[in-house]
Amino acid sequence: MELSYILNELGEDREMYFNAVAPPILQTSNFACKTVDEMRRMLRNEAEASLYTRGNNPTVTMLEKKVAALEGAEHAIAFGSGIAAVSAAVLSQVNAGDHVVCVQKPYGWTNTLMNRFLPRFGVEVTMVDGTDPQNYRHAIRPNTKLLYMESPNSFTFELQDIAAVTALAREHGCSTILDNSFASPLYQNPIQFGVDLVVHSCTKYIGGHSDAMGGMICGSRERINRIFEREYMTLGAILAPHDAWLLLRGLRTLPVRMERVAASARTVVAWLEQQPQVERILFPFLPSHPQYELAKRQMRNNTGQFTIALKTDDIQQVERFCDSLQHFLMAASWGGHESLIYPAAAYYGGGEQQGRPPFNLVRFYIGLEDPDYLIKDIEQALAAIS
Ligand SMILES: Cc1ncc(COP(=O)(O)O)c(C=O)c1O
Repeated sequence: MELSYILNELGEDREMYFNAVAPPILQTSNFACKTVDEMRRMLRNEAEASLYTRGNNPTVTMLEKKVAALEGAEHAIAFGSGIAAVSAAVLSQVNAGDHVVCVQKPYGWTNTLMNRFLPRFGVEVTMVDGTDPQNYRHAIRPNTKLLYMESPNSFTFELQDIAAVTALAREHGCSTILDNSFASPLYQNPIQFGVDLVVHSCTKYIGGHSDAMGGMICGSRERINRIFEREYMTLGAILAPHDAWLLLRGLRTLPVRMERVAASARTVVAWLEQQPQVERILFPFLPSHPQYELAKRQMRNNTGQFTIALKTDDIQQVERFCDSLQHFLMAASWGGHESLIYPAAAYYGGGEQQGRPPFNLVRFYIGLEDPDYLIKDIEQALAAIS
C-alpha cells in the first residue's frame, strides 16, 4: 500500500460526513441500535462493531487502520498512552507461572512493569543485554512465553537483532513484542522481521506536536481481537476520540517531519563529533557505531534522538552545560516540533540511582528548528564549561 494513500485516503469514508476533508471527531460514548437483532449482532462481534466507545469509535478506528497499514500489520488497537499499549500487550501474552526475557534498560515504566508489576502476579522476568541475541537464547527456560524487545532501547540506543530474536522465539514457541516508538512506523517495520506484536507511543512521532498522548498495538487480526476481548475491554485504557483526531492530524505530516528531523540530527551529530568536550555520541547511524551495519539492515533511516557523553567527571559541569542551553527545552519525551534534552544528571542527587545511565550522558532530541540555530546554542553551552 502506498504511503500517500495510507496517510490521505485509507479509512476515510468522506461521503459519510458531507465530504469534509478533515474527519469528524465522533465525541460520543454510545451508539444506538435500531432493533434487538442489530444489538445482538453487535454484541456477538463487538471487536468489529461501533456499540460503545470503550470498544470502538470511528475516529479512533481511522487512526488504527492507518497505523496498522504503516506497520504492515493486519490490525491495530489504540490506547490512551504508549505505556498502556505496552502493558496490555505484555499482559496479553503471560499467565502466572510464565517467564519473560526482556531487553535490559527499556523505557523506565516498561522496566517497572517487568520488574515490579509482573512478579506480583507470578510472572518471572530475566533482563538481558540485547546486543547479542545469544543472551536471549541463554535466558530462555521451558516456561518462557515472551521475548520483549525495544530496539533501539531507551537513552543509550542499543539495537537488538530483530530477525535473530524472532527466529529464537519460533524455535522455542514464544511470542515476541517490540516497542518501535524510537524509529516510528516509517523507519522500521518489525513485523517484516517476524515480530508478533509491535507497540508504539503515538505521543512521540505519530502525534508530532507535543499536544496529545496515545499508544498502539499492531499485529495479526487474531492476536489483536484477543487483546480486545480481554485486556482492552477490561482495563479500559482507551484513546479518546479527540486525541485520536489530533494524532490523525499529526500523521498527515509524518514523512516530512521525519525527513527534516533525520537530516537535522545528522547535521548536529556531525558537528558534535568535532567538539573536544564530547567524549562519545550514542547514535546507531554513525559509521563508527558498533551496530551501524545492523541499524542499516533493520531501519530505513536515523531519527532525531541521540545521546552524548560529556568529557567530564564533574556533575556540576554537566549541569552547567544543560542549564546554559537556551533553545533546547529540558523535558521528557520526544518526537514533537521542539528540540529537547534529557540529562541523566537529573537522576542523581537523591533517589534510586541503581541501573541509571552515567550522569555525564545527555539525551538529545532534534526537532524542526534550523540545525544551525541549534548548533549555535550547543556551542555557547559548551563554551560555558570550557
Ligand atoms: C520507548 C518508549 N516506549 C513507551 C513510552 C511510553 O509512552 P507514553 O508516554 O505515551 O505512555 C515511552 C515514553 O517516553 C518511550 O520512550
